[in-house]
Amino acid sequence: METYKPSPIPLCEPNLGGREKQYMAEAVDSNWLSGGSFLRRFEQQLADYAGAAHVIGVSNGTSALQVALALAGVEKGDLVLVPNLTFVATANAVKYLGADPVMVDIDARTWLMDLDLLQDFLENQTFRNSNGCFHRESHRRIKAVVPVHLLGNVCEMERLNEMADHFALAVVEDAACSLGSFQNGWHSGTSGLLGTMSFNSNKIITTAGGGAILTNDEALAKRARHLITQSKSHATEYIHDELGYNFRLVNPLAAMGCAQMEQLPGFIQRKKEVAAWYQRELGEYDVVFQQLTPGTDSNYWHSAVLAEDSRNLIAALAADNIESRPLWTPIHELPVFTNDLYVTRENVSSDVSRQGIMLPCSTSITDEQLKRVTQSIAKFLDVSIKV
Ligand SMILES: Cc1ncc(COP(=O)(O)O)c(C=O)c1O
Repeated sequence: METYKPSPIPLCEPNLGGREKQYMAEAVDSNWLSGGSFLRRFEQQLADYAGAAHVIGVSNGTSALQVALALAGVEKGDLVLVPNLTFVATANAVKYLGADPVMVDIDARTWLMDLDLLQDFLENQTFRNSNGCFHRESHRRIKAVVPVHLLGNVCEMERLNEMADHFALAVVEDAACSLGSFQNGWHSGTSGLLGTMSFNSNKIITTAGGGAILTNDEALAKRARHLITQSKSHATEYIHDELGYNFRLVNPLAAMGCAQMEQLPGFIQRKKEVAAWYQRELGEYDVVFQQLTPGTDSNYWHSAVLAEDSRNLIAALAADNIESRPLWTPIHELPVFTNDLYVTRENVSSDVSRQGIMLPCSTSITDEQLKRVTQSIAKFLDVSIKV
């Protein structure tokens, strides 16, 4: 006899319920593939929505970060400040340029870079001269800081920008997760020198694979377009005036993005409902939610909680055919980064990572499915409390 298995509930599925097929077919029919009108339209939609003067479509969020850091002046041998809890791409992009990340521990409430800790590090472990900010011990230049707006929560940008100004650091915002998140009226990714986004298939909108660079600086935008097209400096001759990249977003994928942008307000609305559901239904249990920074209107891209017995909870959900995942492993624990500097007092990122669970939050998730998730979690927590 077959045992009954409830239908699967995926973690975070793309939602392609709009004009994706129509626009992609139009892009194919136009025969413009590498560039074309959908790419320009997608970039403009993003610029209008985020209030950024310039948006440049690129191949993914990681390449966006790599190019943005290069544009910010990061060079071989430099140090770049990143939060210790983030997707590995943030730190990888630093390494691609021959620089090294300095990981800064996170705030236990917001799960974002701890700005008190950052300030303490900058005031006590660095010195400044006319060439910039330098790490006292290694005498290496600290060129930039990368706030990551994790899960949709926005780092306190006014404070960070002031600090960065004071210590001569370029600010590159990793807004991979935060399209639709605002802080005091500013869209995430638009208040620093440069911002980057990802349109990977699990993000709030997707182009299957894709990303964007945002900036209000016209010269940087021009240089970004130049770098991502192999630094080709002549219309017809193959003249390349510096080391460039092949990082452009292609027209059929941008077409998907145009259709996704039309649905963004509805996606954000549903993400907010899902987050509110978890907060309401799990509020009385022994789980901890991410706290928003002051003035943040989050897109609630990914719902997550901290629970003591997180790995067993993930297994219990899997037994009910519900997909969930741990939060990212802290960067300092990954082999590539173990020799890099980690600024911390209490290693909060390891605690948050150990307890973190990403919960199902597709924009297409039904209330019925949400009920199954919270009932499954409640069942596990009730039992584990009694044990
Ligand atoms: C915080 C963060 N930064 C960067 C990236 C990299 O984006 P992509 O996967 O599009 O390269 C992602 C997601 O994938 C991310 O979550």
